[in-house]
Amino acid sequence: MCGIVGYVGKKEATPLLLSALKRLEYRGYDSCGVGVISLKDGRIAVQKTPGKIQNLVDLLKTKDLPLSHVGISHTRWATHGKPTRSNAHPHADTSGKILIVHNGIIENYQELKAELQSKGYRFTSETDSEVIAHLIASFGRDDLFKAVQKTLKKLVGSFALGIISSDFPDRLIAARLGSPLIIGVGKDENFIASDVSAILEHTRKIIYLKDGEIADIRSDEVCVYDLSGRKVPAKIQTVSFKLDAVQKEGFPHFMLKEIHEQPEVLSAMLSLRLKKGMVVLEGIGLSDTALVQCRNIMIVACGTAYHAGLVGKYIIEQLACVPVAVDVSSEFRYRSPIIDKNTLVIAVSQSGETADTLAAVREAKARGAKVVSICNVVGSSLTRESDGVLYTHAGPEIGVASTKAYTAQLGMMYLLALKFAVIHKKLSGFRVQSLVKGLKEIPATLKKILKDKARIAKIARANAHFGSFLFLGRNVNFPSALEGALKLKEISYIPAEGYAAGEMKHGPIALIDEYRAVVCITPESDTYEKMISNMQEIRARKGKIIAIATDGDTGIRQHASNIIYVPKVDRLLTPLVTVLPLQLIAYYIAVARGNDVDQPRNLAKSVTVE
Ligand code: G6P
Repeated sequence: MCGIVGYVGKKEATPLLLSALKRLEYRGYDSCGVGVISLKDGRIAVQKTPGKIQNLVDLLKTKDLPLSHVGISHTRWATHGKPTRSNAHPHADTSGKILIVHNGIIENYQELKAELQSKGYRFTSETDSEVIAHLIASFGRDDLFKAVQKTLKKLVGSFALGIISSDFPDRLIAARLGSPLIIGVGKDENFIASDVSAILEHTRKIIYLKDGEIADIRSDEVCVYDLSGRKVPAKIQTVSFKLDAVQKEGFPHFMLKEIHEQPEVLSAMLSLRLKKGMVVLEGIGLSDTALVQCRNIMIVACGTAYHAGLVGKYIIEQLACVPVAVDVSSEFRYRSPIIDKNTLVIAVSQSGETADTLAAVREAKARGAKVVSICNVVGSSLTRESDGVLYTHAGPEIGVASTKAYTAQLGMMYLLALKFAVIHKKLSGFRVQSLVKGLKEIPATLKKILKDKARIAKIARANAHFGSFLFLGRNVNFPSALEGALKLKEISYIPAEGYAAGEMKHGPIALIDEYRAVVCITPESDTYEKMISNMQEIRARKGKIIAIATDGDTGIRQHASNIIYVPKVDRLLTPLVTVLPLQLIAYYIAVARGNDVDQPRNLAKSVTVE
């Protein structure tokens, strides 16, 4: 979603703001802009445009911005108003002296706008964000910080804000409530950004701004205050991941790079979390006794993370016999879930900033549940609001379509399932050790599949012309079918549906003909024969089948036009393996169609509005 970068220091602001903003492209956006305070005359200057940052770079070749050491920049993902130049950020007040960039949604903007308009403030955009600039102006120009403070008290909704004013040309004000914002602390320079990846090449020292905090930032000082104006301690943390992690390193796309990182991600997780054959869930924040007392588990998540949650349900119930419900976060909140202090809510989120998941967690806590999050981004909002955190440590995921974060979430689900199985005494030591051994072998298995990627690419290209796809799976691979379909639609824009294969006869079969491709996830399993029956039904209706099958399964050749073989693994662990060909199919089809794989249209990496 929207990306924010701000700078105050001694360097030329515009090129720095643009290159940092480029690192936030992955969040998804449809217009962008930059605004600076001129070093020469102290005036504010702004350039903005619909489309990509490259458009802005091109625009600046003819409409240069003045030399400056202070500025803010923004990528906008349209919510209120189309992606036009006038709706792009930064937004100025009527005098043109105050400039703001905003991520989030101001829910009461219409009433604020009407009030400000009646006082003579002129609006030039359809956005909710513009009210913020006018509101700050309405509180006078003597004290920018106080004016911002008063403004924030009037806003209902969520925001991350960067603010500059030509009256205070050496300052940058930042604030957050519900939308992510970090401060990068440098030497004689400071930054704000929506996430660390934007400023990693300048500094690793980060202050994670908390909800309700306002920062007054100069080139040599960062002061953080709460909403009432009381100074609060600002903890500087040093992030450890390298710049390589946010670069493509020779891969044509971040998505392909991240697909290739999956064996490493999983292997790092397993070596950290499996000690002497025992699962170590440091960070979970609950004792084994407290975990045993949890009578039921509810998993909340969105998008790909929701599919990881669904796999979690299958394996936790099968291994540990604890009842698990899974909800998309946006539904959980409004369906009055039955929760009490004996419910464990597991929130799964790559970014830790997904607004619906955060709202679900707040709802769960208000109803007395314990909340453990499975999250990739250290220090994100979700991790701060949970009783315990299991970090996936998959490294920054830049491709909008989630891949390595999913595998890492799955890995954590297996570890959790094993942990529950052990503390509930539901598995023999032998079965635990066999699953642990199986898990440890998965990274090598994924590497083997990756070696076969040219063949998968060929199959994908040969099927790239199909106008629609159906993905079928059963049991633990039903969520894999959902994830395969999601990956394909996200980046190829081909209508794709995931179904439990048993449900095919209850609807999707009506769609099957020679124009429909069907991906059947058919590894060796207890439901293998049932999947074969489904494949026969598809073939009888001329559907084109791409099967994902276990090495050595020659029998499947009579049923499928294309087969992608994966090595044999424990039946319960197959989702960790089958997802890889599904990711590669989606990737190569999107590439064949000439799509922007890393930044698919209309999608945002981190959905920070409900
Ligand atoms: C967006 C992303 C998806 C992601 C979902 C949940 O829709 O495009 O890739 O799965 O949000 O995000 P989270 O950060 O909570 O895992």
